[in-house]
Amino acid sequence: MKRIFSGVQPTGNLHLGNYLGAIRNWVRLQQEFECIYCVVDLHAITVPQDPAELTASTREVAASLMASGIDPDQSILFNQSCVPQHAELAWVFNCVARLGWLNRMTQFKEKAGKNRENATVGLYSYPTLMASDILVYKATHVPVGEDQKQHLELTRDIAQAFNAMVGEDFFPLPEPQILGQATRVMSLRDGSAKMSKSDASDFSRITLTDDADAIMSKIKKAKTDPEPLPSEVEGLEDRPEARNLVSIFAALADRDEAGVLADFGGQGFGVFKPALAELAIEKLSPITGEMNRLMADPGYLDQILATGANKAYALARPIMAEVRQRVGFLGSSAG
Ligand code: TYM
Repeated sequence: MKRIFSGVQPTGNLHLGNYLGAIRNWVRLQQEFECIYCVVDLHAITVPQDPAELTASTREVAASLMASGIDPDQSILFNQSCVPQHAELAWVFNCVARLGWLNRMTQFKEKAGKNRENATVGLYSYPTLMASDILVYKATHVPVGEDQKQHLELTRDIAQAFNAMVGEDFFPLPEPQILGQATRVMSLRDGSAKMSKSDASDFSRITLTDDADAIMSKIKKAKTDPEPLPSEVEGLEDRPEARNLVSIFAALADRDEAGVLADFGGQGFGVFKPALAELAIEKLSPITGEMNRLMADPGYLDQILATGANKAYALARPIMAEVRQRVGFLGSSAG
């Protein structure tokens, strides 16, 4: 049996990388599988957050997911902190994972930057909480963008170590699902940097709250080189900005890069950029419209998340009870 789990941080507007690398695949998977989708507010506080903004972002991300097509009747949609078993299992995993494993995590190194001594302990142990998110449901498949691959390898290491400790195949070893044409969307200002919520420049990313004018101007201002587009995919080598825009086009149009270049090879960006912007507006503006509609009713969003949390809790609690018993904890978690 396949059980899907994935999560997204409520640390600002979702961008095109989140949408093409993850959310769109989540929507497609829910037709076939049991899916659990989580707004990971516990992860968000590994860096300082303004409480009111965190609350607003949690609702906004939930609205973006629903506007993108996550159906809360079909899938479970909730925010992480409402199901305490995530944090409970994370503690057990903190006592399974080794410092050496966490020291290898490139995302910690990037996020902590030069001032590592000042990073929170939560940021350092972020991946053990992620492992717990997945394994507290015994999820088997995890649809994510490419940047999460290393965290999923660690999740498998933790599952394996726990299984060895208790002497049985207790947890599945979850598989990453890195799907589609745009598994690593790059910044519009720099083809060597990932599109990210934390980039200081708003022009580096397209968000699901951007209107048509913003999308057009961001794409028109996107960094490119002076050459026309090649007719073959090989011609994109060493042209990171061109490759990024072509792969975004391919993902939005549900085609491959070769097909896009068959149409646009030989054309300059003066032709390609407006075509890409039109396509992005066509695909994203219905989502933005629906999101704004949902955001107007915060009570409804809160109720959806609370219902999702109850469903998630019903799945997590018995699994955590089995973990407690394997570890040797007396009694059961209160609540
Ligand atoms: P987060 O919030 O950074 O991103 C959410 C999802 O979007 C993908 N993504 C991208 N894909 C392509 N190109 C990009 N530029 C890009 N930027 C982000 C991410 O890969 C992710 O799939 N640690 C996770 C959240 C998390 C999680 C989990 C995921 C917490 N627990 C358990 C899976 C399973 C994160 O920070 O995602």
